[in-house]
Amino acid sequence: MTTSSPAPGQQPLPELDTSVPQSARVWNYWLGGKDYFPVDAAVGEQYREAFPGIVDIARASRGFLTRAVRYLAAEAGIRQFLDIGTGLPTANNTHQVAQRVAPEARIVYVDNDPLVLVHARALLTSTPEGATDYIDADLRDPDKILQEAARTLDFGQPVALMLMGILGHVADYEEARSIVRRLLGGLPSGGYFALNDGTNVISKAFEQAQEGYNRSGAVPYILRSPEQIAGFFDGLELVEPGVVSCPRWRPDPPADELPAEVDAFGGVGRKP
Ligand SMILES: C[S@@+](CC[C@H](N)C(=O)[O-])C[C@H]1O[C@@H](n2cnc3c(N)ncnc32)[C@H](O)[C@@H]1O
Repeated sequence: MTTSSPAPGQQPLPELDTSVPQSARVWNYWLGGKDYFPVDAAVGEQYREAFPGIVDIARASRGFLTRAVRYLAAEAGIRQFLDIGTGLPTANNTHQVAQRVAPEARIVYVDNDPLVLVHARALLTSTPEGATDYIDADLRDPDKILQEAARTLDFGQPVALMLMGILGHVADYEEARSIVRRLLGGLPSGGYFALNDGTNVISKAFEQAQEGYNRSGAVPYILRSPEQIAGFFDGLELVEPGVVSCPRWRPDPPADELPAEVDAFGGVGRKP
C-alpha cells in the first residue's frame, strides 16, 4: 500500500494509523481491493478463515448498494444523494451508479477515515453536469453533516440518505436510531433512506468471527436482528420488497453467483 505525496498547493495528507485495523480497509480487503495495510489483511483473513461467508456478505452488500442507487435514480427520480460511510472507492461507487442514470446527479460523501479522505480527493470525480463533494465528519455529528452537505445539495429538493454498512458501528441501538431521526429530520419530504447492515440470523460462525474482530482494536461493529434494522425505517413508507436479505432486494435477472440469502439485510424507505 502506498499513498501519494500532496501535489503543490494541496493540504498535507492526514496521518494514517497503520497499527490498528480500520473498517474501510478491512472491507476493501474482503472486496478484493488493494487499499489496506498488513494489520487489516491479518484481521480480515483471520475473520474469513472463521467465517468464509464474509466475502459474500461484502459483495452482496455492494450489489444491494448498486441496485438501491439505480432504483433511486431511475425509478424514484432522485438526483441528490448523501452517502455516509463511503468506504474506499471500488467498483460502482454511488456517484458512478447515479450519474450513469442521471448525469446531473449530485452526491455528497461522508466518512471519518483518513485513508478514505486521501482517496476521495483523487478518485471521487463527477460528470460535468453533476457534482460530488466529500465531508470529513463523524456520523455522530448529524448537524455538521447536514450543514456542510448544504454546500452541494439543495435541501429544497428530495435527497436520498444512504447508510450502508455503517450503523453497526454505533453500538447503542437507541443512539443509532436517534442519529437516523436527526439526519432524516434535516432532509426534505419526498426523499428516501437506504440502509444495509450485518444481521445475526443465519450463521453462528458470523457472530463468533465478529466478536473476534471486535476484540482486535478496530472500532467494533454490532450485528442486529432484521427487526431492529427494520426499526430504523419507522415513520417511512417502505419500498417493496421491504427490509430483506441483500440479495433478495430487487435482484437483477439473471441472479448472479451469490447465495440467495446472506446475513446482511437492507431496505429503502420514502420519507412522506
Ligand atoms: C463497512 S464500510 C462500508 C463502506 C460502504 N458504505 C459500502 O457499503 O461498501 C463502513 C464505512 O463507514 C465508515 N465509518 C465507520 N464509522 C464511522 C463514523 N462514526 N463516522 C463516519 N464514518 C464512519 C468507515 O470508515 C467505512 O468507510
